Amino acid sequence: MKYELPQLPYAYDALAPIISKEVMALHHDKHHAAYVAGANTALEKLEKNRAGELPDLDLKATLRDLSFHVSGHLLHELFWQIMQPPGKEYTPIQSLEDAVTKSFGGYEQMQKQFIGVAKAVEGSGWAVMYATPTKELLIMTIEKHNLNHLPGYHPVLALDVWEHAYYLDYKNDRGTYVDKWFTELINWEEVAERIEAA
Ligand SMILES: [Fe+2]
Repeated sequence: MKYELPQLPYAYDALAPIISKEVMALHHDKHHAAYVAGANTALEKLEKNRAGELPDLDLKATLRDLSFHVSGHLLHELFWQIMQPPGKEYTPIQSLEDAVTKSFGGYEQMQKQFIGVAKAVEGSGWAVMYATPTKELLIMTIEKHNLNHLPGYHPVLALDVWEHAYYLDYKNDRGTYVDKWFTELINWEEVAERIEAA
């Protein structure tokens, strides 16, 4: 098994001015690529360990690496997919509106909580909306890439609030990045499809 870096579904400058071309290029080509490489390195070490080539491998550390890098890879893959160039008008999607109303009471409540969660992430992490096993939606933080995941819960929306995602564009003003990202870049059609498929 080997992970591969997916292509972005749009050009590097497609999300500007909310996310600059420079940030997108570094984020995808360097950071995301590093998580893919790290996941593959951990898998290779485990394979060698099984073959007897690395008998003293620190399994605990290697599996921690694997968790970090695979989760980083999968969250970035989701992150690219649920964004779209700014300026597209939202056409209401009934299934999405129903799901949001059922779980949060309405769009505004959901938006307020998601933005609040994203701004409250301590250090490096993500704000994530999950489709739960009982077909509801839940907003969570993920620390780093891999801490707080809920088994059986399916991420349908994810916002990267690691500094690498916004520092060159917004410096320490994560709040403005989060506000603009939420109102300008989310591809709700993609999110609705993921909720339905979950
Ligand atoms: Fe990232």
